[in-house]
Amino acid sequence: MLVLGIETTCDETSCALVRDGYEILSLVISSQAAIHDAFGGVVPELACRQHIDIISQVLMQAVAEANISLEEIDLISVAKGPGLIGALLIGMNFGKSLAWALKKPLIGINHIEAHLYAAVMSHVPPPHLPALGIVLSGGHTSIVDMQAIGSYWLIGETVDDAIGEAFDKVAKILGLGYPGGPIIEALAKKGDPGRFPFRSGHVKGYPLHFSFSGIKTAVLYTVREMSLTEADICDIAASFQRAVFEDVLHKTKIALSQYKSKALYLGGGVTRNETLRALFAKHLDTACFWPENSLCLDNAAMIAGLAYHAWHAHPVSSLFELEPETRIPFQAKL
Ligand code: KG4
Ligand code: ZN
Repeated sequence: MLVLGIETTCDETSCALVRDGYEILSLVISSQAAIHDAFGGVVPELACRQHIDIISQVLMQAVAEANISLEEIDLISVAKGPGLIGALLIGMNFGKSLAWALKKPLIGINHIEAHLYAAVMSHVPPPHLPALGIVLSGGHTSIVDMQAIGSYWLIGETVDDAIGEAFDKVAKILGLGYPGGPIIEALAKKGDPGRFPFRSGHVKGYPLHFSFSGIKTAVLYTVREMSLTEADICDIAASFQRAVFEDVLHKTKIALSQYKSKALYLGGGVTRNETLRALFAKHLDTACFWPENSLCLDNAAMIAGLAYHAWHAHPVSSLFELEPETRIPFQAKL
């Protein structure tokens, strides 16, 4: 089954062609990072305009790279949310128009579930289930109990900032660019992680929940009192990164002790971070499955891959019913 994926939830415009849930024939991602860099974060209006300008081109490139014709597509899938409303509308209406014109079925896919599926599709099936799924992205920080592909129960999430958002905000405070994650990771390699006693937050009564707004403020107050040298910036980056990753590791250990899990599946932009991967490899015995690098950040291959399973679980086209959902509670059964 040949599935087209369309992803426009935030600041990446992406189309992909994936066969039978795993085989990526093409994946085109057009990043808007350069557009949003000057603002230290995504400007929704600019994101929408760029999606409109480029989406047809991204589709045609994906079709050309896969060496197929549009008529060969069996199913069109689009990220239905969570995300920015204007950005979602563009991908969704593009998908609807295409499905209408080509007379193909259309389904909507939860972007966050797709981030977890990215780790599943990066490895040889079948997945090791039940497992814990951990989403670490710019918009979400969640731990889920994964019973099957398409069956997830939320067991922990952030109560304020997402982890990637914290990286981006700390980078902004330090006068670095956007997205902040890769810049902080690079600077942290040259810094002393023990210099600043930053701590991630704990949510009373909810040991698996996250809170990152406090650590961001702690960085802000620290910076205000200093005239920063390059070495200071590296030390702050390293201390911040260590604090948030140790928190994720700690909560993962708690979740592993509470839920029967054969493996960990991780996804989202922050899982690109090599220091995080090394920390998990060092401290956990449980097998960790990470997405391939190209599938960590927002991409349409994870949408098309998960759509294959979603369609088999529920083969109904929702061309007319589908609406964008800016927030989707993470408790899903396909
Ligand atoms: O998953 P994603 O593309 O977008 C959302 O769905 O939100 O993740 C983007 C986030 C950004 O906050 C970015 O700073 C972060 O992922 N990120 C990283 C790294 N690469 C990207 N964070 C830490 N280390 C990295 N190497
Ligand atoms: Zn994402």
